[in-house]
Amino acid sequence: MEILKLGNPILRDKASSVEVFDENLKLDVEQMLSTLESAKGLGLAGPQVGIEKRLFVIIIDDERWVFINPEIIGRSDDKVRYEEGCLSIPGYYMDVFRPSKVKIQFQDINGKMQILDASGLLARVIQHEYDHLDGKLFVDRLDEKTQEAFFKSWERSIKHPRRRP
Ligand code: NI
Repeated sequence: MEILKLGNPILRDKASSVEVFDENLKLDVEQMLSTLESAKGLGLAGPQVGIEKRLFVIIIDDERWVFINPEIIGRSDDKVRYEEGCLSIPGYYMDVFRPSKVKIQFQDINGKMQILDASGLLARVIQHEYDHLDGKLFVDRLDEKTQEAFFKSWERSIKHPRRRP
């Protein structure tokens, strides 16, 4: 699957719920997992590969996670800083503050409802991917100055690809 890059309007759309749990969904999820694996990323959301559905996959330490129609139903009060990157914004890594723990409700590949308490890296990646379903990217969460500098640098890198970091 081709991973869409910042600038593609699909990345800014709100994704719609998954209604049908069938073989096609399983195929999409399998392909997303292999795409994520070859890209050596931690997470990949549907919209990043042109699937405008509320689903994302995560691979951490060879463990594979599939979240369908996720809802974050709890967030810890404490926020932690962590350096994030995104397969849709290659070459850029920046610190983002987010809650350290989340409680997430979602459906598995068979449509069964699940609840998970996540912390550490998993909580971080869940929140990053969850944002993708609402058309939000990690660079939207930077402070104004850093964000401005980022977008300038990104625009330049598009006009002069060789200067891309
Ligand atoms: Ni991302």
